[in-house]
Amino acid sequence: MKIKSICCIGAGYVGGPTMAVIAQKNPNIKVTVVDLNAQRIVDWNNKDLSKLPIYEPGLDDVVAEARGRNLFFSTKVDEAIDQAQMIFISVNTPTKTYGAGKGMAADLKYVELCARQIAKVATRDKIVVEKSTLPVKTAEAIQNILDNTGNGVDFQILSNPEFLAEGTAMRDLAVPDRVLIGGDSTTSKGQEAIQALVEIYASWVPKENILTTNVWSSELSKLTANAFLAQRVSSINSLSELCEVTGANIQEVAKAIGMDSRIGSKFLQVSVGFGGSCFQKDILNLVYIAKSLGLNEVADYWHQVILMNNHQRERFAKKIIKTLYSTISGKTIAFLGWAFKKDTNDTRESAAIYVADSLMDEQAIIKVYDPKVTSTQMQLDLNYLNTRSESENIKYLKTQIDPYTAMDGAHAIAVLTEWDEFKSYDWKRIYKNMQKPAFIFDGRNVLDRQILENIGFIYKGIGY
Ligand code: UDX
Ligand code: ADP
Repeated sequence: MKIKSICCIGAGYVGGPTMAVIAQKNPNIKVTVVDLNAQRIVDWNNKDLSKLPIYEPGLDDVVAEARGRNLFFSTKVDEAIDQAQMIFISVNTPTKTYGAGKGMAADLKYVELCARQIAKVATRDKIVVEKSTLPVKTAEAIQNILDNTGNGVDFQILSNPEFLAEGTAMRDLAVPDRVLIGGDSTTSKGQEAIQALVEIYASWVPKENILTTNVWSSELSKLTANAFLAQRVSSINSLSELCEVTGANIQEVAKAIGMDSRIGSKFLQVSVGFGGSCFQKDILNLVYIAKSLGLNEVADYWHQVILMNNHQRERFAKKIIKTLYSTISGKTIAFLGWAFKKDTNDTRESAAIYVADSLMDEQAIIKVYDPKVTSTQMQLDLNYLNTRSESENIKYLKTQIDPYTAMDGAHAIAVLTEWDEFKSYDWKRIYKNMQKPAFIFDGRNVLDRQILENIGFIYKGIGY
């Protein structure tokens, strides 16, 4: 089966970049990305490519190449579903904020709505591809809805988890370590569907890097990959605390263990804590699934990764408070960075939000500079926590569009995101304009300690 038309439901961080690359590499396939959020679609269609709704290095070039040729962004969901042979579901699956599994399980209501909409609209056979991160056995639920509410047409469900990391998404899509496709290879229709998706990726990915498995292995592999990555970060972060008390240096420890080829050097960068839309959500999901199956030891084992991450964020905030003589009320603390990592405007679960919240509890004034995050987004992030009123959040957190203004007159600087530009600031000028003693809390260990100490700063890194 040769696919000629694809529809992707959800024009977010996953759907947008993934479909842009699929369209770029398959000029003969019409790819339509749809979203209920009309503003998002307007932004994706903006002639000015710097106004795309997602900041991802290299994305603008790919969109420029494919948009209007075979890549389209639209709000006409039903029409796109009807015309497509293959439908990707790339909608958000946040952690539930209510009812059973609150704070743990994935909220599948958007996925379920998609399945119902596909069932209602489809009058021809369709291949439905799960792209969103989902708990194990979600494909089964989707299949069930489609089979029981559809118009009697055949639906093949595939799981095709994304492994792209924000900030490097375009490279991850262009040269993926692997593409994983889960499907039902016990039937000929299932095999055909798997093959159809393999062919799409084979336009640019070597066949040996395209892995096919059963649906459940594919779904579980996605959760497992994120759990392993997050676990490495929590492991190194846990040892950073030990380093601080013993005089060992976590950077040296990370280098020493990373040179062991069995361990490897990646994902050993100590930090104020991991963030992002996936790590915490996927682990909580894993924990919830294990718990619901009565596998309590498995659940506890993975839950510890989250607890350690929460501890690392709290520890950072406490260190700032304690160092500033246990009183920060009315003091200004400048934040460099708000995004959960560099090269993205995404702030979901960013450590910055939680550190700011703790410092605001102590009535500090936070002045934040982030090269890509808007003030509206920062306020939304704080309001979402529900710890204080919106007007108090506005009073305590001020977004600055210039880094030097953010740091002018500040009692301390806290680095929350590892943006490259922070390294090349005029640190002498910054020091001159700060309150003394001038403290820097480097939550990413990105600044040059020696240079800063020579200028006169009191530098506090993580784990050394
Ligand atoms: C992650 C996975 O990497 C990706 O495969 C999956 O598809 C989605 O989730 P992402 O969340 O975009 O991607 O970014 P990632 O680079 O994994 O970083 C996650 C968080 O961990 C960030 O806050 C980052 O700063 C932090 N991190 C990462 C560390 O603190 N130390 C490290 O060594 C690596
Ligand atoms: P992700 O990081 O998983 O891509 P995002 O929140 O960035 O998550 O994007 C998900 C997108 O899916 C949002 O733009 C949201 O409006 C869209 N969406 C959710 N449900 C539907 C639906 N039923 N139909 C169309 N779009 C949807």
